[in-house]
Formats: sequence, structure tokens, C-alpha cells
Amino acid sequence: MELQQHVLVVPCPAQGHVTPLIKLAYNLAYHGIKVTFANSEYIEAKVLAVISDVDREQCPITLVAYSDGLDSHPEQRYGQGLMDGLKKYMPANLEKLIKQINHSDNKEPLTCVIADLTVGWSLEVARKMGLKQVAVWPAGPGCLALALRIPKLIKEGVIDEYGSAIQDELICISEEIPGLKSSELTWNRSGDSAGQKFLFDIALATKQAAESASIILCNTCDEIDSSSCALVPNILPIGPLPAMKNLNPSIGTFSSQDSSCLSWLDKQPSNSVIYIAFGSTALFSQKQFDEIALGLELSGQLFLWVVRSNIVNRSSAEFPDGFLERTSSRGKIVEWAPQEKVLAHTSVSCFVSHCGWNSTMEGVSHGQPFLCWPYFWDQFQNKSYICDAWKVGLELKYDEDGIISRHEIKTKIDQLLTDDGIKANALKLMGDARKSVNEGGSSYQNFESLIKYLKA
Ligand code: UDX
Repeated sequence: MELQQHVLVVPCPAQGHVTPLIKLAYNLAYHGIKVTFANSEYIEAKVLAVISDVDREQCPITLVAYSDGLDSHPEQRYGQGLMDGLKKYMPANLEKLIKQINHSDNKEPLTCVIADLTVGWSLEVARKMGLKQVAVWPAGPGCLALALRIPKLIKEGVIDEYGSAIQDELICISEEIPGLKSSELTWNRSGDSAGQKFLFDIALATKQAAESASIILCNTCDEIDSSSCALVPNILPIGPLPAMKNLNPSIGTFSSQDSSCLSWLDKQPSNSVIYIAFGSTALFSQKQFDEIALGLELSGQLFLWVVRSNIVNRSSAEFPDGFLERTSSRGKIVEWAPQEKVLAHTSVSCFVSHCGWNSTMEGVSHGQPFLCWPYFWDQFQNKSYICDAWKVGLELKYDEDGIISRHEIKTKIDQLLTDDGIKANALKLMGDARKSVNEGGSSYQNFESLIKYLKA
């Protein structure tokens, strides 16, 4: 009897990384690969706390956990402390976990580790233990191409050794992909040198891991993004993952999804609801939060708004006086939505997004026009793809006080909803993305070759 190939999937311990790797893991299992998914214990507790009974019963992958070594230093679970801590404790703990799995499952031992490039040390552990290694890059290929280009940018005097732009010119890494303002560099943190160092170090570590990876899976496709894919050696685009095999597990989310918004959407007219969600990490000041609320009110549109419990400076938001009463008949607010099902719903007319890569691919897969509100890291570059390369969205602009005003929000919503060109582009892009993951498409074929490689 043929033994099943057994793969260990290792994400970076953050929502925007666990989500796409869970989707990848489900797709591998669907193709007959045995998958064990290794979260840190800290993240696994969050995942298990909200998993639905149905998803738990039907889960085709095995969830395991290992220590991140930070239980006695919980304050280090953010920023620089997290990356340092992970590098210090997790490689040895991962090695121990692999040995344990192989000891208890000696009939089908692990043959491969598939790991997030952000935790590139996992691939080193696999190499040392004689296992195959496959890297995954959960953000866009342009962001990875930028990291790979760092030495050249330093040599050409475009940025200094700390990543700061030397001149205030558009930074172009290829003629075909959108240039970046210095303030839009992935690691840019004007006035916050510790924050910039943290993000620049991640970019450098990612670059190093990418250079030694022989396969880098990426949640994009050649049909929509060939120019940036061409800049990353060994890239294997297999996305957009959300559209693949129509799988949408609630496993892997850290907050429980409020499905009441789906029945609410069912009652709204087609193409009438603005969906607003800013991913798992974006934070706002109370003043900015008020402007979002008042902008939605001013727009006069129906809206579904995801308001995380920590969205205002890590604590709960206060809505402007009377806002909830005034908008109760046309607005729905949830703490966490089943986002892909929302974006697939015919009542949704557009997506106000922070442009995280997962949200970007999910919006693209469902033909949604975007109103872009990037917050940090790759999100400015993703915004440039949306607005300048694909022309499927508009950007919200800050006023001189550093706020996106209610009037800007209303004006851009009006503009977006009446722009037939943007809607047509979004539908065309959706078609291209879907073609890629359908039988015969480039991502489909790349996924087949990944399965062959894993089974070889
Ligand atoms: C982070 C970074 O911010 C992002 O830029 C990077 O590309 C990936 O890592 P995050 O900010 O969480 O991710 O954004 P995003 O990449 O969009 O991922 C959010 C995920 O959460 C998406 O898959 C989305 O479907 C899901 N989500 C979001 C929900 O399921 N429900 C919600 O209410 C909101």
C-alpha cells in the first residue's frame, strides 16, 4: 500500500499568516496529502476557542502546538520582542515537535516542512533534519521583490543601511510594477526608528530565507501579477487561494465569525451594501474612528462594518453620539465577519479595506471595487496595485491634520459607486484570477506540480 506523504505546515503566529496557510493546508489535504498544522500554543488557544463544532468534526488536517518560549515574557509577544523570542526558542521546540510526531506516527513520518518565509528558521530546521522544504510567502510578490532588492537599493544610494529613503523620489524596482513613494516602503516608519528597524530586520530576514528557498508558494497568479512574479526566483504562484476548491473553513480565525451579517445581507438589495473591514491589526485614534462612522452616515448608503473590540488604540471604540440609533436601519456592525462569504454576497457593492494581501486577493476573487485605506507594511504597495496597476479602486486621502475626513469618505464612496470603468475592471480581474485556479489555469497547474513534488 502506498504511504501517504505527510507535511508539517508552520505559519508565523499572526492572523494574516495563519489564515492563508490554513487554506493551503486544506487544499493539500484535499489532494491526498496528510497535513499536520503547527501553531504556537499561544495561537492555538485562540484558534481552538472559536472553532465551530462542525469545522472541528470535519477538519481534514491535524492541529498541533508547540511552545513559543514566551509564556514568562508575554510582553514580548509584540514587535521586536516577538521576532527575537521566536528565533531564540522556537527552532529547538520545533525540532522536538517533529521528533515527537515521527515517533508517534512512525508509519507515516513527516516528509516535508512547508513554512512561512517570515519564520524562515523553520526551513533551516527541516533542512537539518533531512526533510524537504517548501516556503510560503503570504503577502504579495511585489513586497518580496522589494525585500530581495534591498542590497541593490543601498548600493545605488536609493536607501541607506537602515532602510530610510535618501531622496524623496519614486522608488521603482521594475518598469512594469507601480513605483513606491519613500513613505510607502514596507518598513517605513517616519519618526519611529525602533519600529522601522523591526520591520527592516523582518524584510532582511525574509530576503535571506527567500534566497535559500527552492520553492516559494505565493497567494497570487501569473494572470494578474506576472511582472512582480518574474522578479522573485523560484516563486510558484498558486492563488488566489480563497477561490481554490471553494473551501472556506472557519478554522484558523482568532475571533468568532458573526454569521448574522449574512442573513442581514440576504435582506438587502443587490449591489447596495458597503463592506468595511481593516484586517486583524490596524488601529485607529478615537477621532479617526468617529470620522469613519460619520462618513458612513453621510454617505447615505447601507453598510456592514467590522469593528474589532481593540480597534481604537487596542481598546473598544465609542461610537459618536446617536450614531447607532440614526443608522440602525441601514447599518450592521459586527466584531468579526465571515469575510469571504461577505465579499461573495451579491448585496455587497464595494470593499473599504486596509489592503492587507489576504483581503486584497479575497476582494479581487469576488470582483469587488476597493476604497483603499492602507495602514502599514505591504498595504501601501498593495494599494498601488489596486489603484494604479489593476485600476480596481480609489485611494482615500488624508487631510492636513492627518485624518481621513467624513467628507473624503462620502465623496470617494460616491465616486467609486458611480465609476463603471472600475467595476468593469474588477469583474475582468476576477475573471482572470478565477481562470487561473480553474482546471488548466496557471495556478491550477502550479498546484498540481507542487503535489507531484510532495508525492515524489
Ligand atoms: C497582515 C498584514 O497586515 C497584511 O498586510 C499582510 O499582507 C498579511 O498579514 P491583516 O492585517 O490581518 O494581515 O490583513 P489581511 O492580509 O487582509 O488578512 C486578514 C484576514 O482576516 C483575511 O483573510 C480576512 O478574510 C480575515 N477577516 C478579516 C475575517 O475573516 N473577518 C473579518 O471580519 C476581517
